Amino acid sequence: MASHRQNDSSAGYQPGFKSFGTNAIHVGSEPEQWKSRAVVPPISLSTTFKQLSVGRQHAGFNYSRCGNPTRTCLERAVAALDGAKYCLALASGMAATLTVAHLCKPGDGIVSMNDIYGGTTEYFIKIAAEYSLDVSFADFTKQEKLKAALKPNTKMVWIETPTNPTLKIVDIQVCADIVHEYNKDITVVVDNTFMSAYFQRPLALGADICMYSASKYMNGHSDVVMGLISLNRVDLYERLKFLQSALGNVPSPFDCYMCHRGLKTLHLRMKQHFKNALAVAQFLEADPRVDKVIYTGLPSHPQYELIQRQCTGCPGMIAFYIKGKLEHASAFLSSLKLCSFADSLGGIESLAEHPASMSHASVPENLKKELGISDTLIRLSVGLEDEENIIADLDQALRAAESPIEI
Ligand SMILES: Cc1ncc(COP(=O)(O)O)c(C=O)c1O
Repeated sequence: MASHRQNDSSAGYQPGFKSFGTNAIHVGSEPEQWKSRAVVPPISLSTTFKQLSVGRQHAGFNYSRCGNPTRTCLERAVAALDGAKYCLALASGMAATLTVAHLCKPGDGIVSMNDIYGGTTEYFIKIAAEYSLDVSFADFTKQEKLKAALKPNTKMVWIETPTNPTLKIVDIQVCADIVHEYNKDITVVVDNTFMSAYFQRPLALGADICMYSASKYMNGHSDVVMGLISLNRVDLYERLKFLQSALGNVPSPFDCYMCHRGLKTLHLRMKQHFKNALAVAQFLEADPRVDKVIYTGLPSHPQYELIQRQCTGCPGMIAFYIKGKLEHASAFLSSLKLCSFADSLGGIESLAEHPASMSHASVPENLKKELGISDTLIRLSVGLEDEENIIADLDQALRAAESPIEI
């Protein structure tokens, strides 16, 4: 197994963002902002804040839905990591999606990448469309398809890269240029959940909004559900800040504290996710029980050159097709011992899931087929355990899957 390993996983990628680790640890955590000089920001649970006098400016906060000191600490840190002026923390990734979609008015068009998180597809098809948003999908890996999808009513373009679960890469700069050339007022949104702020900066590549499910890598410990939005445009920020409070999509101060704490090790975690995932992907690629491996960090990925040009490295997400049928995938997943057979991704622990019946169950069957979300597709979120233990677990589960029990 060790013979498959490459030594330097970051070779060939964009250089890392300057002072990333220092900013992750210090921005938003300055002791001088508190009378106590606390090195770790306190959790501010108060829902309300004492005002100065009628009509006078309050001391920065009035009611916790509108603003909270612990939330501000987190938002400042994330903005620094994304190279952004502003950040807003929301109650979940889906709350972030909903809030951003509220930038559109009835009749406006949203054009989305066709291969995205199943919950986002579901929101676009089953909810946004019912509220008179004109939602359509296209494959943005092909420039002509994006161009053809833009219409006079298009107000927003939604990119997810790498896509979930089949890890296609969208060239953010090329797409943003095409869209803004068509109409500079179209808002280009990138869901940066899979790459995290450590490996990809969409705003520097022409996107207007970078959003996250912070429930994944940004928090990184599978113990917080949260969403984040980073941006530079003040007009969009002011509207989104209003929507954050008016829609009530806010996270709790405790969750903000937890996410901020998780963020402080993002740079260390992502480096190790990359190293572990590369070793796992190389193991799977060489295994005859596996039909095909999709990993952004493997030279066999069809867009390997673009990944290296766009990103500073790759996260722990791997998709692979196990040989056989549904029962082989099912036997593999239920035989895992160290890795948990569970939804979600981006935490320190390794997880495996079955997109067709779990994260992407709500995606229409014809679209699943078109995207390659078949019964034998398995998605791994490679965690931070020792790589030999993860590989040994996958190896024994692949062995168990060779003789599945009929289902
Ligand atoms: C890429 C992506 N975006 C958005 C979401 C939604 O985030 P949340 O579960 O925090 O609401 C998810 C959740 O899995 C996701 O994987």
